[in-house]
Amino acid sequence: MLSETEERRTRLTLIYGPAFRRAFEIFALGTTDSPVRDDEVIELARSAGISKEQRILEPCSGSGGVSRLLTREFRCEVLGIDVVPYQLDVAKSKAAHEGFQSLIAYIEGDAVTYAYPREAFDAAIDVFAWVHVADWPDLFRTIHEALKPGGKIVMYDAFLTPKTTKQTEEAVKDKWFDPGIRTVDDCCLAFDRTGFRVIHKEDRRQRVLESWRAGLARLKEAADEFIGEFGEEPYELFSETISWTIRAHEEEELTAAQILAEKV
Ligand SMILES: C[S@@+](CC[C@H](N)C(=O)[O-])C[C@H]1O[C@@H](n2cnc3c(N)ncnc32)[C@H](O)[C@@H]1O
Repeated sequence: MLSETEERRTRLTLIYGPAFRRAFEIFALGTTDSPVRDDEVIELARSAGISKEQRILEPCSGSGGVSRLLTREFRCEVLGIDVVPYQLDVAKSKAAHEGFQSLIAYIEGDAVTYAYPREAFDAAIDVFAWVHVADWPDLFRTIHEALKPGGKIVMYDAFLTPKTTKQTEEAVKDKWFDPGIRTVDDCCLAFDRTGFRVIHKEDRRQRVLESWRAGLARLKEAADEFIGEFGEEPYELFSETISWTIRAHEEEELTAAQILAEKV
């Protein structure tokens, strides 16, 4: 029987491999593997007070786009953690390529159960990653212990809405492997219950919808090249999933939002 962490690694490894990497390079609207532009991440991080000499935790750091972006902009230190070795290899090599070895470190592990040093970080950041984590209250409790008093959570992610049907909720959990997805209000409640005070929340559905549309158009333009390298199946999977996501945003069944919370 697989442990929860092994189950996550096995499932996520199916998604986060070379085909996803290439698809997001084509999709690219910025440094991160997400529908979020670099200037939005920087503006949000700045509003949370992220600055030089701070230590930032990035649970579910993926290929490290967010950590590199923060270090480039603020010269802060970042510790990223991810459960998929391929993602960590990409992240490490990109950080080395940019000469950030002294400021960015990555560890392999489960972001929910990892024993982080206590009260060691000024902020924890999520850009379209924590939706993969089913147990948000557990994740928030773990992060709460790792943050200094007054430490911030900076979150920019996908959310359900009051209009989301059961069918769409099941579909997004399956299509994107987003078992943790919930509404903004439910997320804020989870923050309240785990010792955080929400200080800012903002809907970004329209902005992210535009990004999904722009990304899909790029992917379609590069269809022949992508199919030549990886075959029809992953291309169909990516383009169908993104088209479905666009429709769900248009119908307000899915949204994106920024949430800032502070450890109390
Ligand atoms: C969409 S990617 C992250 C994208 C990144 N924020 C960026 O924008 O470049 C999500 C990452 O979360 C990781 N992940 C999901 N659940 C995890 C967990 N429980 N512990 C560690 N990593 C996890 C996946 O392996 C994947 O690399």
